[in-house]
Amino acid sequence: MKKEFFSIAIDGPAGAGKSTIAKKTAQVLGIEYIDTGAMYRALTLKVLRNKIDPLNYKEIISLLSKSDIDFNDNHIYLDGVLVDDEIRENKISKNVSYIAVIKEVREIMVSLQQKLATRKSVIMDGRDITTVVLPNADYKFFVTASVEERSRRRYKELIEKGEIDVTLEKIMEDIRRRDEIDSTREVAPLKMTSDSYLLDTTNKTIDECVDFIVSIVKGRS
Ligand code: DC
Repeated sequence: MKKEFFSIAIDGPAGAGKSTIAKKTAQVLGIEYIDTGAMYRALTLKVLRNKIDPLNYKEIISLLSKSDIDFNDNHIYLDGVLVDDEIRENKISKNVSYIAVIKEVREIMVSLQQKLATRKSVIMDGRDITTVVLPNADYKFFVTASVEERSRRRYKELIEKGEIDVTLEKIMEDIRRRDEIDSTREVAPLKMTSDSYLLDTTNKTIDECVDFIVSIVKGRS
């Protein structure tokens, strides 16, 4: 019997272009995009708003149990309020890795993400999608780019958003630190699985990257 839904899992480091590529691929294939990083970011936003120390895991777990994080039409809602823009601020990027290392936080997020993937065909991106969230995904990709390129992209993004308190050197330092935390953490570290396609976006346009994924999914590669 033919499966009703299919899933595409994408992992990769910060700034590799995962969300831009995944969002566009979702449009081309007519499937749902789920940005799991946005879920960790939404929790981080709430932690900072409540003035909780990002290292105080007990209070963070308790806060998550009282929070509602959901997607509607590709937008993320925290307790029913749209937070698309707030979660992209630099102070969130700087703190989110500390919150994403908490085992209990990850367990709750993973089960939420798995539930989201049962209802429709999805493309989901993050750090543990190919390994933990959707280990049986129909298609798996590891999307990456050089640290320099990823830092340049993040810098440009923040400057365009009007953040003035940033330098390229500082961003590069933050990206290296996040890479280190994301790939060496005890629970679900970022790694490429042997059944993932490697997509290095360093010298590619967004459309070239989308085409790469779409051609594999459509069996044209
Ligand atoms: O992709 P992003 O920059 O929005 O991710 C934000 C943070 O959340 C990043 O530091 C890693 C973490 N993350 C994670 O641990 N697992 C995921 N599935 C997605 C993101």
